[in-house]
Amino acid sequence: MRGATGVPAYEARGLTKRYGHIEAATDISIEFHPGEITAIVGDNGAGKSTLIKMLTGAVRPDSGTLHLGGREVRFHDPLDARLQGVEVVYQELALAANLDVTANVFLGRELRKRAFGPLRVLDKKRMAAQARAEVASLSINLPAVVGPVVGSMSGGQRQCVAIARSAFWAKDIVLMDEPTAALGLRESTAVLELITSIKERGLAIGLISHALPHVSELADHVVVLRHGRKVADIRHEKLTVQQLMGLIVEGNPAARVG
Ligand SMILES: Nc1ncnc2c1ncn2[C@@H]1O[C@H](COP(=O)(O)OP(=O)(O)OP(=O)(O)O)[C@@H](O)[C@H]1O
Ligand SMILES: [Mg+2]
Repeated sequence: MRGATGVPAYEARGLTKRYGHIEAATDISIEFHPGEITAIVGDNGAGKSTLIKMLTGAVRPDSGTLHLGGREVRFHDPLDARLQGVEVVYQELALAANLDVTANVFLGRELRKRAFGPLRVLDKKRMAAQARAEVASLSINLPAVVGPVVGSMSGGQRQCVAIARSAFWAKDIVLMDEPTAALGLRESTAVLELITSIKERGLAIGLISHALPHVSELADHVVVLRHGRKVADIRHEKLTVQQLMGLIVEGNPAARVG
């Protein structure tokens, strides 16, 4: 079973990123374990997005290393990270509004089949079947995977499509930066349920969220950033909203750095 050895699915060691004299991230180490939700919390400007960008190939760290399943990796860009198994979902949806669910799931990674001789054409049937199976396996409520364009769906449905696409392709980890920030209460609930079913598949999940009740309920592991540094790293311990608040506001590094 994946993770039985205790090797993190994904790990960063000593990530540092400066913008001029701003220390956006300083010496951050973090582990993501299979079947666990790691929440990354911290105040505005604490360095959360900078960290996610370094983890997903969008920003190159000044120093530090990345390890997938114990093996050191480097990413040229986000596509390279995706091809190596690191998927990311952002608050701003990265879906094509004028395409249906199947086309979005396979955007840029279309399946093809042999037609005449060397000619290869899109294998629409196989893509639709796989998209349908993925949506069903995650119990997502959508009108259809072929036909209706995602631009016609609700914000919550669209975010579910974005997450399902990441879950479909991810080999090791799905990282999410504020996946519920733009959603209403009911839509958020659907997205949080979806995150739980992805975790149950054994994928590692990294979740940035300001919604502390969600973090308190879902997280198996909490990493707290403050002024670009990790000030707490707590695994296998339920934290209340109150405790999370204390860690974010006061840092309390003495007692809690893991
Ligand atoms: N491209 C950039 N150029 C200059 N400074 C940057 C850049 N990106 C981030 N920073 C700075 O780095 C620090 C960390 O920013 P980051 O976006 O990582 O914070 P965050 O924890 O995601 O905040 P929020 O909760 O508001 O999303 C901030 O001081 C920010 O202004
Ligand atoms: Mg951010």
